[in-house]
Amino acid sequence: MEAGTLRQPRVWLPVVAGVGVAVCLGVYGRLHEPAGALDVPAFIRLQDTKVWLATAAAALGVIQLVSALAMYGKLPTARWIPGLHRWSGRLALLFSLPVAVHCLYALGFRAGEPRVLAHSLLGCVFYGAFAAKMLLISRPGEGRPWVVPLAGGLVLTTLTGLWLSSALWFFTTFGPGW
Ligand code: HEM
Repeated sequence: MEAGTLRQPRVWLPVVAGVGVAVCLGVYGRLHEPAGALDVPAFIRLQDTKVWLATAAAALGVIQLVSALAMYGKLPTARWIPGLHRWSGRLALLFSLPVAVHCLYALGFRAGEPRVLAHSLLGCVFYGAFAAKMLLISRPGEGRPWVVPLAGGLVLTTLTGLWLSSALWFFTTFGPGW
């Protein structure tokens, strides 16, 4: 690692922006009065939709990991791998957004039990890490080869934690819902 890499504005600005995104989401989720769930049958359908969208996002996260390992030479690669990495990332974000909007708007940031607190924190950190990673890759080749994998690893770890703390919990508690 190059000495002083973190002090380069192009590294810490994305980090500050990412922390800002995470904190803003958490503060919003805490201060906003949750809109609340719908009536019971509609709510159950909505929860099913959410857990499957979250599962699709997590599955795309696996593709992200495998394609990133190929791009970094840890697995065999091909010309289409970078495109696969970009599109799986875009789709994962797309699938996560309606879920997170419902979480934040209707449920808010909750801390009643450890799983729910961890889930709420992971949701905020996920978007912060995602924003930081997008800003970092927008300026490639500036002497910080470890920063982008670090940010990507954080995105993937938080996405996995989100899935474990919501969809997996839901499946093991209520079943797959079909
Ligand atoms: C942005 C910050 C987020 C906050 C504050 C948040 C908060 C919450 C809360 C409080 C619950 C209810 C948990 C319970 O009582 O069991 C919940 C449920 C859930 N969350 Fe999130 N969440 C966030 C982001 C996300 C993201 C990004 C995903 C998916 C990628 C996600 C997926 C889910 C799922 C599948 C459920 C279960 C269905 C439900 O209870 O409605 N959340 N979330």
